[in-house]
Amino acid sequence: MTEAATAAPSRSAASAAVRLGGVSKAFGSGSTALLALDNVSLDVATGEFVCLLGASGCGKSTLLNLVADLDRPSAGTIDVGDARVALMFQEPALFPWLNVTANIELALKMRGVPRGERRERAAELLESVHLRDFARKRPHQLSGGMRQRVALARALALTVSAKDGRGTVLLMDEPFGALDAMTRDLLHDEIERIWRERGLTVLFVTHNVREAVRLGDRVVLLSSRPGRVVEQFDVPMDRPRRIDSPEVSSLAAHITDRLREEVGRHGV
Ligand SMILES: Nc1ncnc2c1ncn2[C@@H]1O[C@H](COP(=O)(O)OP(=O)(O)OP(=O)(O)O)[C@@H](O)[C@H]1O
Ligand SMILES: [Mg+2]
Repeated sequence: MTEAATAAPSRSAASAAVRLGGVSKAFGSGSTALLALDNVSLDVATGEFVCLLGASGCGKSTLLNLVADLDRPSAGTIDVGDARVALMFQEPALFPWLNVTANIELALKMRGVPRGERRERAAELLESVHLRDFARKRPHQLSGGMRQRVALARALALTVSAKDGRGTVLLMDEPFGALDAMTRDLLHDEIERIWRERGLTVLFVTHNVREAVRLGDRVVLLSSRPGRVVEQFDVPMDRPRRIDSPEVSSLAAHITDRLREEVGRHGV
């Protein structure tokens, strides 16, 4: 492959697509209140790929839900400008009674794409995840990896914009956690290609440190609950990276040590 290496965008120079300022989130109130996130400040630059790591229950999904505007912070501000935001859940969550094309057309309909354009747009999206031949299948007729790809296409459908040049932010919540290593490697290549071709801004949650280093321009480590940003790691290696390369392994080992310290300090 002779692709040019993609440099990590400079955080200071690029404009922020997502800006979290002092975000806290508590569930419930009074003596039973549970603080999930505590004073999280984080900027994600336009076009940046940021991976979020942290122990189970530290507030990663909560944070994505807040950015997706599915919930409100208890304190602090969240600014996504006029970007389109799409959330890809851990489970593919497709409609089982609709075929692959119809699942994607529904997302396009929700985004106001006129009926006459939906079929063609859906076909383009399926092409981008290499699933054109499965357009008429229903979710149960697909493998787990294929279902994840449909979910990815559907999330991308939610980012279609009326005008070019409008920012798109893709939030991914452990999207590949349940897949075998080989399928995951293929989807890493795919998401990296789509991210680059479409100029997406990605906030990607994972438990897998190597996956974070394989994909991210930057890896953000959250503390155990309540989630706070404890450390950030720039990933300087050229793309595409191999998940089993010595450079990825070495940085992943370093981050894993920090994660262990963090989990050890608070338990899970
Ligand atoms: N709607 C809710 N109501 C009450 N508590 C909630 C709600 N959503 C999340 N929580 C609590 O907030 C904390 C953070 O949950 P969250 O799902 O964000 O964690 P997470 O980092 O995504 O964990 P995991 O890695 O296991 O997916 C947990 O203690 C959880 O019980
Ligand atoms: Mg979660």
